[in-house]
Amino acid sequence: MSGDITSYAYLFSAICFVLAIRGLASPETARTGNLIGILGIAVAVGATMLLPQISTWLFVFVGIVLGGAIGAFIALKVKITDLPQLVAIFNSLVGLAAVLISGAALHDPSLYGMAQGSTMPLQSLIEMAISACIGAVTFTGSVIAFAKLHELMTGTPIVFNGQKAVNGLLGLSAVFAAFAFAGWGSEGAFWGMVILFMVWGAMVVLPIGGADMPVVISVLNSLSGWASCGIGFTLDNPLMIVTGALVGASGGILSFIMCRAMNRDLLSVLLGGFGAEAGAGAPGGPAPAGTVKSGNADDAAFMLKNARSVVIVPGYGMAVAQAQHALREMVDMLKEEGVKVRYAIHPVAGRMPGHMNVLLAEANVPYDDVLEMDDINRDFATTDVAFVIGANDTTNPSARNDPASPIYGMPVLDVENAGMVMFIKRSMATGYAGVDNPLFYNDNTMMLFGDAKGMCENIVKAL
Ligand code: TAP
Repeated sequence: MSGDITSYAYLFSAICFVLAIRGLASPETARTGNLIGILGIAVAVGATMLLPQISTWLFVFVGIVLGGAIGAFIALKVKITDLPQLVAIFNSLVGLAAVLISGAALHDPSLYGMAQGSTMPLQSLIEMAISACIGAVTFTGSVIAFAKLHELMTGTPIVFNGQKAVNGLLGLSAVFAAFAFAGWGSEGAFWGMVILFMVWGAMVVLPIGGADMPVVISVLNSLSGWASCGIGFTLDNPLMIVTGALVGASGGILSFIMCRAMNRDLLSVLLGGFGAEAGAGAPGGPAPAGTVKSGNADDAAFMLKNARSVVIVPGYGMAVAQAQHALREMVDMLKEEGVKVRYAIHPVAGRMPGHMNVLLAEANVPYDDVLEMDDINRDFATTDVAFVIGANDTTNPSARNDPASPIYGMPVLDVENAGMVMFIKRSMATGYAGVDNPLFYNDNTMMLFGDAKGMCENIVKAL
């Protein structure tokens, strides 16, 4: 009877998770999506507690209270710019859990309703091997990704001679160890395999530059889903299989979307080294290729106030400066003056998917004012001022017309079609891709040098 209740409850939870992902796809429905996801998890945990295999609720409650308290504390403390590394460290825990659950199932199969010792079926050994391997790679890969993004170690690619051969050899040995484990089924072989995959996971992520980490994290997130899916088979738990597959598939799709929007292919990201020569992610890059016109907050305020339409183009610099609130205040004043103001969002502006949407939502910018690139790109031709705040690569026309450019092929916002373009940034430094932006030298461009937040505050004063 409790089995029936659990099955229906699991079905309900699985539907909740699908609806939650659907809700999270848009800022308007994200909060509801989140709540539906929480409901799904609560029902799933409750239903699992009813299973006959759960002999005591004590450990589950201790886990929920401890984990919940740590999770709530971190969620309240974390800065939005630190979200990528938070996701990385949480992924690592999912990977570690997959390894530990597989190890526990192997050590005492009866706990999981499986046959003891030598009678364990080959199918179970293969399931354990797959989830432990993926979990081990996810664990160490995510720890290195976290350390790079949190600046606990250098974010630049760590490379050495013969690295690809060493990594290839390590990977082959790890796969060989997995076959050996599936053949022998011994605990020694299991932990040998796990250690090899852990070392391999770390070695694969080391040569990847800090700026490529969001894609890597999305891939690791997908892997953590597949690891829990594998564990679902080991534990014969259909909800874990469904949930793991949802996370695995959505993480995989997100990785491809991010790569496509950056015009990179996933393999080249995972093989690492991008930006090692171009200086990606680091301020600096090539010397200025011309003269620029610069202005100050008073000039900007004058032009903005006299414009009929303004399109704001936010980028990574707005996130660094946390300028969204000052920007919102500036936009409110312009709207009071009768200026039509909208925001244009490039799919990979910032350093994580939805980065700009999250920041603008935090500043209570109305969703209707925020338009995706494809919906607003044509409107730049009829816009008086494109106000680019901390964005660079996502506006660079070389992506359209310079086949030699590293960002050639990446779709960009056509800001240069506006009557005038203002760029707020601190210097002539390049952005993530390490390439100069020819727009800075155009006749209709005005550079506003300074920190994005400070500049917006000064424009507000001038207005
Ligand atoms: P970027 O091209 O990276 O340019 C950001 C600009 O912000 C820099 O040129 C920098 O110039 C300026 N900046 C930094 N701090 C600032 C501050 N405090 N105040 C004012 N300006 C500041 O940014 P973007 O246009 O958003 O493009 C994103 C890039 O990241 C793309 O190349 C994309 O492919 C890549 N990427 C995106 C993602 C996702 S999923 N979003 C993931 C990985 C990589 P100064 O130093 O002169 O101030």
